[in-house]
Amino acid sequence: MTATIGNIQADAKTGGLSFAGKVLHPLWLRERVVETNAFDPISHQRLYEPAELDPSIIVQSAEISADDKLSIKFSDGYAGIFDIVELAREIGLTDNPETIPLPKSWNSNLNFKRFDWNALDDPAEMKALLTAYFENAFCIMDNTPTDRDSLKKHARRFGFLRDTNFGEIFNVETKPSATDLAYTDVALASHTDNPYRWPVPSIQYLHCLANEVQGGLSTLVDGMAVAEALAQENQAWADILETVPVRFRYDGPTGIYEDTAPLIARDYRGFVNHIRFSPRLDFVPALDPDTLTIFYAARRRMHELANDLKFQIQFPFKPGTLLMMNNYRLFHGRTAFNGKQGYRHLQGCYIDHDGPQCLYRLLATGHTETFVQRES
Ligand SMILES: [Fe+2]
Repeated sequence: MTATIGNIQADAKTGGLSFAGKVLHPLWLRERVVETNAFDPISHQRLYEPAELDPSIIVQSAEISADDKLSIKFSDGYAGIFDIVELAREIGLTDNPETIPLPKSWNSNLNFKRFDWNALDDPAEMKALLTAYFENAFCIMDNTPTDRDSLKKHARRFGFLRDTNFGEIFNVETKPSATDLAYTDVALASHTDNPYRWPVPSIQYLHCLANEVQGGLSTLVDGMAVAEALAQENQAWADILETVPVRFRYDGPTGIYEDTAPLIARDYRGFVNHIRFSPRLDFVPALDPDTLTIFYAARRRMHELANDLKFQIQFPFKPGTLLMMNNYRLFHGRTAFNGKQGYRHLQGCYIDHDGPQCLYRLLATGHTETFVQRES
């Protein structure tokens, strides 16, 4: 084969290629062949089982053309033409516009922009909103239409609704004989929603239709910042909350839901990606007393930090305000109010994480959001 092609060279040891100093395995290259007999151009799925490829395949020849295309012939007779720009992006040599912005931890000093619902038809503004959402794990929109149940339409702009036993849409309003403290006028301490479900609902929306009361401010705290602070104060506390499996249970009039998991989980990159915190319905196992003493100290400190004003932002709900928040990263709560002052009505719903991610990728690659639709 050609010994040197620009900065792409044969790698004799593996039978693959070396690209900018990174060795690409021959099978890694072979399963990226997108010729029509190997790859479906509509679904972008392989037309064969890559696990059945001959494990001894090597690159026999490789050539670069003037238009940045790399032609490779493989020892099994297949050939492929690769776009070098895409190859460089996949191995991290250049930025990928589809990459979801990384989370940035924040505290009460956070300066955040509120978004006008009426400006979101501009793809650049919608992308700015999504960027803020991925970085901060929430965003606030104003001037949304306030018709009852219009939240379904608003949330569907970002993803598909997650139904639960509380309904596709749930109403947060003071009512007698409430089945949840959310439906009263008492303060709600920082918590995450529904840790007893599997999967836990990902993104929560709260939409204000009416608010005639003082107080009742919404509170948000970044769970990533709390986890960082906890680890700085006492690593053993952070460790125990990431390892002890805690049982969460909802046993109510409409079902019995239960799941078991640590209070803090991380993704493959090490970012905190799932806080479960609802101490009124968690049940730690009967571990040895020394371990439980550490666990209770850690959970107590987590509760204190999650309700510490140094970490908290507060804002009022006005009719038309729409909050979108990541229930896997943020604690949310509410200050008390006097329900006798007037009517207060919020509606809520959930969607999955992948909806806004899909929308971001589409906008980042020049599509319009109208592309987000159901396959019929
Ligand atoms: Fe909640």
